[in-house]
Amino acid sequence: MTQAPPIKRPLMGALTVPGDKSITHRAIILSALARGTSTLHGYLPSEDCLRTIAAFQQMGVPIHVESDGAIPVLRITGKGLHGLSEPADVIDCGNSGTTLRLLSGLLSGQPFFSVLTGDASLRSRPMRRVVDPLRKMGGVIFGRENGAFAPLAISGSARSGIDYHLPIPSAQVKSALLLAGLTASGTTRISEPLPSRDHTERMLRYFGASFKQNGTGMEVHGNVAFEGREIEIPGDISSAAFFLVAGAILKGSEVRVLRVGVNPTRTGILDILKQMGARIEVTSLSEVCGEPMADIVVRHGPLRATAIDGEMVPRMMDEFPILCIAAAMAEGETSIRGAAELRVKESDRIQVMADALRSMGVATDLFPDGLSIHGCGSLRGAHCKTYGDHRIAMALMIAGLVAEGPVEIDNTACIATSFPEFITHLKSLQGTVIPKNRIH
Ligand code: S3P
Repeated sequence: MTQAPPIKRPLMGALTVPGDKSITHRAIILSALARGTSTLHGYLPSEDCLRTIAAFQQMGVPIHVESDGAIPVLRITGKGLHGLSEPADVIDCGNSGTTLRLLSGLLSGQPFFSVLTGDASLRSRPMRRVVDPLRKMGGVIFGRENGAFAPLAISGSARSGIDYHLPIPSAQVKSALLLAGLTASGTTRISEPLPSRDHTERMLRYFGASFKQNGTGMEVHGNVAFEGREIEIPGDISSAAFFLVAGAILKGSEVRVLRVGVNPTRTGILDILKQMGARIEVTSLSEVCGEPMADIVVRHGPLRATAIDGEMVPRMMDEFPILCIAAAMAEGETSIRGAAELRVKESDRIQVMADALRSMGVATDLFPDGLSIHGCGSLRGAHCKTYGDHRIAMALMIAGLVAEGPVEIDNTACIATSFPEFITHLKSLQGTVIPKNRIH
């Protein structure tokens, strides 16, 4: 049990958040499939990404961990599209849905047997969304309940490209199919109902793979080799989001987050906070490896309620837990709908946040596809459960900064899934040592 910091000090200062998680996974995967060496500057050394690194090491890809001062660096010697070796054991993806889903696409085209599994949360997450289209390509995949759940056992086979329209927007499914398309015969064409994050598309282009985009559709040609690259990874806006909301709701705060990825498929949090009246500025816009990057400044100020639906949903998907805290501190009723996918993330985030908000004294209305939050500008202390979900734990830590009374969180170890240095950054922005967390 950890008690979130009870002192209401403003957050002041600048920080650089660690590398983007989604981009790190893709940089590792494409570097392993490239010919020659790639160097990844500023990759994210969190538990999820370490699972992807370990998976490729199991398949014979040399990956060396280095550093350039404080910046973590990976050097990866690519094996080409057809150079991976059969892993001698099951690949354990831990809590990482991105590792498991993207690798299921890639491995279904490799001429060897592999098994992908994960922790209890990952083994309860839906897999038919990748298994079905991969089977259409000729992939031979077995799993619990006919492929609905991991472990997935994959028997590599010759596959051909397909034309596939995703029934729901999902970057993991889209990316699994694009990776499958890299070794399939012919062309794989994919479209999705609403744009989800497009890091795979940008990185395929950056590596020089045979990839084209046409409006809402895209296509990849199989068996076209590409070369290793130097890659710089921007900070993760999903990690920055906790400090942006904290800066907006905590009196007297001014927080500057430097070198954050501001890919438009990910910046829903900025648009929503602006809609809520937050004092946010985006400056120093630049581009690294096909991804836009900027500095973001936020200052404390009053927030008002808003409505989130439609194309905004995939653009804020991972920021729901911390947006719930912003909505609770705003005046009025914020509604988030069209977000049923939130129920099959690392936890059922709609239910878990509704329970946490209610225990902190905030009224909510629960829907199958979302939540209404009756913001009242305050939270009370409570005992909250995370269900091992890293983003719930961080959102509750931020709630603890503004709540009247202590917010006790049952598990903060899970924060290492995406942001091992989170508490250190929080302490340094408070300019003080947080009273030692109480561990029961
Ligand atoms: C991710 C895609 C998103 C997101 C997840 C990471 C990715 O899921 O929620 O945390 O790296 O591709 P979807 O597959 O639902 O888009």
